[in-house]
Amino acid sequence: MRSGSLRRPARVRRGERLATLRAMASQPTVLIMAAGRGTRMHSSLPKVLHPVCGRPMVHWVIEAARSAGAGRIVCVVRPGEGVAEQLPEGVVAAEQTDGEGTGSAVLAAREAVGDAGTLVVLSGDHPLVSGELIADLVRTHESDGAAATMLTTEDLDPTGYGRIVRAADGSVERIVETKHADGVPPEELAIREINIGAYAFEAAELFPALAAVGLEHGERYLTGVFPLLRERGRRISAHRTTDVSSAMGVNTRADLMAVQEALQRRLVEAHARRGVTFEQPATALVEADVEIGRDTVIGPGVTLRSGTRIGEGCRIGPHTTVVGARIGNGVTAIQAYILDCEVADGVTIGPFAYLRPGTVVREGAKIGTYVEVKNSTIGAGTKVPHLSYLGDADVGAGANIAAGNITANYHAGRKTRTRIGDRVHTGVHTSFVAPVGVGDDAYTGAGSVITEDVPRGALGIARAEQRNVEGYAERIRAREESEG
Ligand code: UD1
Ligand code: CA
Repeated sequence: MRSGSLRRPARVRRGERLATLRAMASQPTVLIMAAGRGTRMHSSLPKVLHPVCGRPMVHWVIEAARSAGAGRIVCVVRPGEGVAEQLPEGVVAAEQTDGEGTGSAVLAAREAVGDAGTLVVLSGDHPLVSGELIADLVRTHESDGAAATMLTTEDLDPTGYGRIVRAADGSVERIVETKHADGVPPEELAIREINIGAYAFEAAELFPALAAVGLEHGERYLTGVFPLLRERGRRISAHRTTDVSSAMGVNTRADLMAVQEALQRRLVEAHARRGVTFEQPATALVEADVEIGRDTVIGPGVTLRSGTRIGEGCRIGPHTTVVGARIGNGVTAIQAYILDCEVADGVTIGPFAYLRPGTVVREGAKIGTYVEVKNSTIGAGTKVPHLSYLGDADVGAGANIAAGNITANYHAGRKTRTRIGDRVHTGVHTSFVAPVGVGDDAYTGAGSVITEDVPRGALGIARAEQRNVEGYAERIRAREESEG
């Protein structure tokens, strides 16, 4: 069956398919260079851990390597920088303890990657490198029979990147580093073709050459191996691409902004293609690992963090932030801040509402203006329209919580719960001193401080009785006159 389906497609398509299978089948080891703080980031966080659309930069590179069909993935880290701890399962960390520079990084992983076969080397600071392009690189490397093959582009501002110097036959002669541009001849600075920092090497040839590379500006440059391999009569190939985002490297926070913007645009577009409307896409921040159903409209200034799930036909925003919450269908959330909670179909939230972790809002409920809810369940169809705080509360279905109701859920270091039954109507400014309960169909009087359970169907009223002092204003005026 399987060989039959491979035989059927047209020639060119079959060629492509076989090439893909070959790249996948060889499953080369991938080494990702990810050591060093990245001094130009001016940060206490190592460069490759800076988040891009909600994921550490280096995770994007790992994902690209996996999608290209990587076998073993080894990541070069510095001990104590905290990068090893952040690597996803299955990725091996190799510690770079000696020397500076990308050459030293690769040498540090020699034992972990081994000396045989094709070794793919990627830079941890190119988060948008695509899996397809990595597979293309391996294919070019294999079909050219080269000792080393690199990815290059002419479509990016070349400032600071290594420039590709080509020989007359089109093969790569060497790479001129321009991080320290002084002393680099103008004709080399004029070269637009740059090294993206993604390579395929024959490991058996790479490591001996690398050991012979000298220091420049105190660093051992990986790119120093190319002239040495050429001297040994080996071919250096390049795979030139027009995929600009794959080429974008991060050395500064300005670069980080550019990469974030490019990826953000890609993620938003993918949602849009699946049926989501963005009213002002440039102001929406949508991280990776967010699901949005069709016909949902995302307004201006909306932030959706990783892990958020939003159903169909919702109206989110303007200016709503959702962090890891599950939101059903047909929900409206205007000017709201929603953290780690569950919101059922048809719920209305905001404007100006704060839903904190552990909150469950059931079908058709309403959480209105200046309302904060924490670790509470709000029953189906229940309304909390204005100015309330419900913490550690369980509210039944069809209840109405009037304006300014507060649960006093915290006392002497302990949090206790408030239980409010189905169809309860509370008066404005009711305080519930937990632990306390209000039975189904009960009422509370305005301004009550409820400290005792209210039975089912009863009215709980707990406030000082009103006393009117007759003629009070007249007495005040008389006193002011006599005091002259
Ligand atoms: C490197 C290339 C340059 C290329 C550019 C593409 C070299 C000498 N130059 O320059 O030709 O155009 O990438 O972005 O390779 N790293 C380590 N250990 C180290 C130093 C760096 O693991 O000791 C890692 C970094 O975490 C980073 C990657 O290697 O992810 C690249 O290092 P970086 O210093 O940013 O190299 P560039 O100067 O950008
Ligand atoms: Ca870099």
